[in-house]
Amino acid sequence: MKVLGIETSCDETACGIVEDGRTVLANSIYSQANEHAKYGGVIPELASRRQIEEIVNVYESALARAALSAEGVDVIAVTTKPGLIGSLLVGVNFAKALAFYYNKPIVAVDHIMGHIAANYITYPELEPPFLCLTVSGGHTSILLVKTYTSYKIIGTTHDDAAGEAFDKVGRALGLEYPAGKKIDELAALGNSKRYGLPHPKVEGCEFDFSFSGLKTAVINTLHNLAQRSEQVDIADMAASFQNVVVEILTEKFIKAAFYLKINKLCLSGGVSANKQLRSTLEQKCKTHGFNLFMPELEFCGDNGAMIASQGYYEFKNGNIIDLKKDDF
Ligand code: KG4
Ligand code: ZN
Repeated sequence: MKVLGIETSCDETACGIVEDGRTVLANSIYSQANEHAKYGGVIPELASRRQIEEIVNVYESALARAALSAEGVDVIAVTTKPGLIGSLLVGVNFAKALAFYYNKPIVAVDHIMGHIAANYITYPELEPPFLCLTVSGGHTSILLVKTYTSYKIIGTTHDDAAGEAFDKVGRALGLEYPAGKKIDELAALGNSKRYGLPHPKVEGCEFDFSFSGLKTAVINTLHNLAQRSEQVDIADMAASFQNVVVEILTEKFIKAAFYLKINKLCLSGGVSANKQLRSTLEQKCKTHGFNLFMPELEFCGDNGAMIASQGYYEFKNGNIIDLKKDDF
């Protein structure tokens, strides 16, 4: 069964085609990141306009890469939440139009479930249940993935998402949006012990996160250095910041795995491309005898293939939308 996945929740316009939830036939992406870089973050109005301009090109490119006609698609899957409403609407309306015209079933995909499904593409043998750390620009959660279509939140962020903290710290360091990848590269050259940064305490659940205090600590350190007319070493600051983020994420994730007695661990979301996060988790999972699954780099950030993969499982579970009755 060939599923077309449409993803337009933020500043990527993406269409992927995946067979039986696991085999990628096409994964076409248009990223607007360069355009938003000059504003230091995503401008929602600009994002949705660009989605409208690019969606047809990206869709046609995916069909061409998969050597498929529109009729050859069996199911249409589209991200319906969460995300920027204007951007989401472009994908949803495009998907609805295709479903009506070609008389194909349509399924709604939650963006977070899509990120989790990126692991099904990389590991054809992977099946729920497992524990998943989802770290992206908008989300930071530890999720107990019970079935292909359900999860329970074990811990989540009280304020900034991990990726958001990378992007905001990057902006304070004068790096272009999105700064996660640049901080990752700079950190590899820096000294993580140079700047002392706090591990913010979180009230309540021990598996919850808070990154805004850490971000503020970086900004305060930069201000103090500027007041003393001292230069900041950007690589050392990137390394110091990233090291604390990775320590917090991995410590809580491993603790949650012990608490829930689960030995199958997955990573997902844009920040799962981070080299230090991947290597630290690899090392810790080896020490504790956990099985670790991480998406290939191509499927870490927003993409259509992950939506198609999750769409396959939504379809198999019977979550098909009736365009005449259901509101979505
Ligand atoms: O999943 P994603 O593409 O979009 C959302 O759903 O938010 O994640 C984007 C986020 C951005 O904040 C970006 O800076 C971050 O992922 N990111 C990284 C890396 N690559 C992307 N953060 C840390 N290290 C990376 N290598
Ligand atoms: Zn995402």
